[in-house]
Amino acid sequence: MSQPESSLMSRLVSLSKRRGFIFQASEIYGGLNGFWDFGPLGCQLKNNLRDQWWHDMVECPPLGPDGKPLSIVGLDSSIIQHPRTWEASGHAAGFADLMVDCRESKHRYRADHILCLEVFYEKAGVKKPLGVLSALEGDEFDTTIIKKAKKLMQKAGGGEILPIEASLAVPFTTLSKEQQGLVIGLDAENVGTLTEPRAFNLMFHTYVGVFQDEDSKVYLRPETAQGIFLQYKNIMDSSRVKPPFGVAQVGKSFRNEVTPRNFIFRAREFEQMEMEFFCPPEDGMMWYEFWVAERLRWWESVGCRKENLFGHVIPENEVAHYSKGTTDIEYRWPFTAPNFGELEGVAYRTDYDLKQHAAFSKTNLDYIDQEAKRRYVPHVVEPASGLTRGVLLLLAEGYQYDESRASPEWLKIKPSLAPIKLGIFPLVNKDGMPEVAEKLYLDLRQTYTCQFDAKQSIGKRYARMDEAGTPFCITVDGETLKDQAVTIRDRDTASQERVALDKVRAYVAAKLASA
Ligand code: GAP
Repeated sequence: MSQPESSLMSRLVSLSKRRGFIFQASEIYGGLNGFWDFGPLGCQLKNNLRDQWWHDMVECPPLGPDGKPLSIVGLDSSIIQHPRTWEASGHAAGFADLMVDCRESKHRYRADHILCLEVFYEKAGVKKPLGVLSALEGDEFDTTIIKKAKKLMQKAGGGEILPIEASLAVPFTTLSKEQQGLVIGLDAENVGTLTEPRAFNLMFHTYVGVFQDEDSKVYLRPETAQGIFLQYKNIMDSSRVKPPFGVAQVGKSFRNEVTPRNFIFRAREFEQMEMEFFCPPEDGMMWYEFWVAERLRWWESVGCRKENLFGHVIPENEVAHYSKGTTDIEYRWPFTAPNFGELEGVAYRTDYDLKQHAAFSKTNLDYIDQEAKRRYVPHVVEPASGLTRGVLLLLAEGYQYDESRASPEWLKIKPSLAPIKLGIFPLVNKDGMPEVAEKLYLDLRQTYTCQFDAKQSIGKRYARMDEAGTPFCITVDGETLKDQAVTIRDRDTASQERVALDKVRAYVAAKLASA
């Protein structure tokens, strides 16, 4: 099947806008970099993914290794917490990215996202270094590099550029100072326009109350996790849970990302789904392994193909000092393919956070195990995923292109997560068809998200529903009044079945349950 020229990402961005999944925030004012709005289909899809996570994490969590149900409860904590929270968690001092400014273009980049490559050219059989070229992670590295290399070569008086191996590129941060001085900026013309990397704190701040000074300064949370640690004791005291147990939370987080990129993948305002699992210290490693396997399984259960998921065990020397193990659950994003990029992090955080908050707040956060007659600070295993990043996965994974269909672009989203479950159409707007279709619509929408559509040809209506990822379309036609039956079309196969009107509910329920 021939594919359109444009990259999958640009097609996803334009489909998202055209069909109302995701819009640029403040678009009419020129947009605001790193901020996105979820439109009618997008917020429904996001809510469905969130609800599935909540169901599978809080309402019906998996069975533990001993076959017993796990105990996980929910929380919805404030976005703004006491500023000491971020001192204790380490975010105030350490939540920083190294960033690099380009003196020429005045752009700012995350140092670890600038990839550099030394390029050579050959003239009259003599091989000479041409310079160090850079591109940004996720860019079409080869195109950017080759364009720049050609420009440089012209300045050098012509010659042949030796084949460039994009896979040999290394982050800017790993270059020596001398090499960094030779780099050509990403959108600069001259050599050596990039500054040395400097730390840049990612937390947004604001002020509480009428005075705006250091004493009233507070932060928008950069992760939902800390709210859970602050309420751990209240939750144990009020909910009769004891280790091992989990606390789950879904909500907005804010990071002043240096280079928000790749659509909603790295935004400045985004949503997370995080769960902190508190357990006896000696069981930490077991729960860490349990949650890594469980989370990989879960992403498959929402429709991600196994071959597009990867559990990346972070090497010991790269994990945070307090972590005894971190595995990133990675997905083969359109902009990382054939490689993978982070979707979720599963971290064994030990007792670090609770001990820090106990010390900073001077509150005892020990758990007293009455039965075993001992007290301890629980260890924590944290599966932390991005809800908005998960929506991007559903769109990328679901995107299909087939020129033989009425809408070549269509979305194969797992039916239970699809924003609209049923399209309901009268074939034509006469002969009693709209009345029957509307009656069916008013009945089915009590249970399923439905869309009634009576405009344009039936083919165009199917196409609209395919683009929205709607799994089933029900058409009331000229025969319906005679045979009391409708046609139900399946999105994935485009096949149609005749179903009696009084069996439609059971048919849809069975299909949605099995898909
Ligand atoms: N409490 C741990 C924590 O926040 P993280 O790896 O920084 O860990 C967890 O974030 C997840 O949140 C990431 O795997 C990603 O899915 C999502 N996330 C982080 N920063 C993001 C951003 N700027 N835009 C969208 N999603 C983001």
